[in-house]
Amino acid sequence: MSVVLIAAGWSAAIGVLGLAVGWLTRSRSFRWLLSLVAVVGVTSVVAGVVGTARAMFLSDHDFGVVLLVCVVAGLVAVGFAATVAAAVVRSSNMLREGARHFAESGAYAQKADGPSELREVAAELARTSARLFESREREQRLELSRRELVSWVSHDLRTPLAGLRAMTEALEDDVAEDPGRYYRQMRTEVDRMVRMVDDLFELSRIHAGVLQLNPEPMALRDVVSEALAGAEPVARAAKVRLGGTVEEMAMVCADPAGLTRVVANLVMNAIGHTPPEGEVTIEGRRFSYGGQDRVELSVRDQCGGIPVTDLRRVFDVAWRGTPARTPIQPGGGAGAGLGLAIVRGIVEAHHGQVTVHNQDPGCRFVVTLPAA
Ligand SMILES: Nc1ncnc2c1ncn2[C@@H]1O[C@H](COP(=O)(O)OP(=O)(O)OP(=O)(O)O)[C@@H](O)[C@H]1O
Ligand SMILES: [Mg+2]
Repeated sequence: MSVVLIAAGWSAAIGVLGLAVGWLTRSRSFRWLLSLVAVVGVTSVVAGVVGTARAMFLSDHDFGVVLLVCVVAGLVAVGFAATVAAAVVRSSNMLREGARHFAESGAYAQKADGPSELREVAAELARTSARLFESREREQRLELSRRELVSWVSHDLRTPLAGLRAMTEALEDDVAEDPGRYYRQMRTEVDRMVRMVDDLFELSRIHAGVLQLNPEPMALRDVVSEALAGAEPVARAAKVRLGGTVEEMAMVCADPAGLTRVVANLVMNAIGHTPPEGEVTIEGRRFSYGGQDRVELSVRDQCGGIPVTDLRRVFDVAWRGTPARTPIQPGGGAGAGLGLAIVRGIVEAHHGQVTVHNQDPGCRFVVTLPAA
């Protein structure tokens, strides 16, 4: 028993000493720290043996042999620790190189290697790099749409303004053949410009985060009915049928004007992109996902499909496809590419999502909102 106590005392003393040295040199390299661990381990064994030699009644010869074995084992342990430390240092150097390259180029491309903790740091850096790449890409797309917005808005305002000026000059000079038609045309152009300015104003409020929402529980069916009442004349003029059903139990807590606008924008787009004799289908249902009750509204058209590369851009501000694809809007004139950006802004302000995918023979816009 006393042998154990003496050995424990000596080993603990060396351990405490090792801890103190380790603490004082804690900021040094792995190489040093791992070697220190090996040295402390072996030294505490040697100290235990030396301390208990007398209590074990070892002869001088045996004591010398035990000491020799300890020294050889110590050398092997220190060599092993140094090799492991060199491998860890190499991995951490690679990690540092990768991080430096990441800082310079914004991309982390180093292969994960070494102990699991270092591999986890490398994986975290790779994830951050991917997120950075995504947000940079988004930023570039936003910048592009901002530039497009300015050029399109100025074009869209210049064209009707030039027309208005020509018509007012003709009326002023009394050279208009059919003044009544001129007045109607002027009214249409002014309405379109007012709509565009209203949309721009709404978008700027959405982007500034100051959109005023007054949510109240309501049936999705009522909102759809209201939006359809407004779209019906346009659909009739375009010879497009409006169909589909909305479940009665699909209740949402939303701003009535905002949600009506969402439905109206989607339905008007769908009508505008569906050929005559085609059909637009509006569907609403309640479902449960991940233990949460949600309400889904979908608007399906027969546009022939949106090119896959365009699918992720349709919600961008001022994006309206290639000029050849941009149809004349119901009610005359091309759109400003603001409708879907407004839809996304309003839906996200309600903690919902809007997505689009192709579904033969057209595409399907799906809005998901928390159920009331
Ligand atoms: N239902 C749809 N089917 C096919 N393409 C669509 C549909 N809805 C939108 N798109 C495409 O997405 C673009 C952007 O739509 P968005 O509603 O934002 O703008 P817009 O309809 O062109 O103009 P407005 O600001 O008047 O709504 C459209 O120009 C069109 O190319
Ligand atoms: Mg639109």
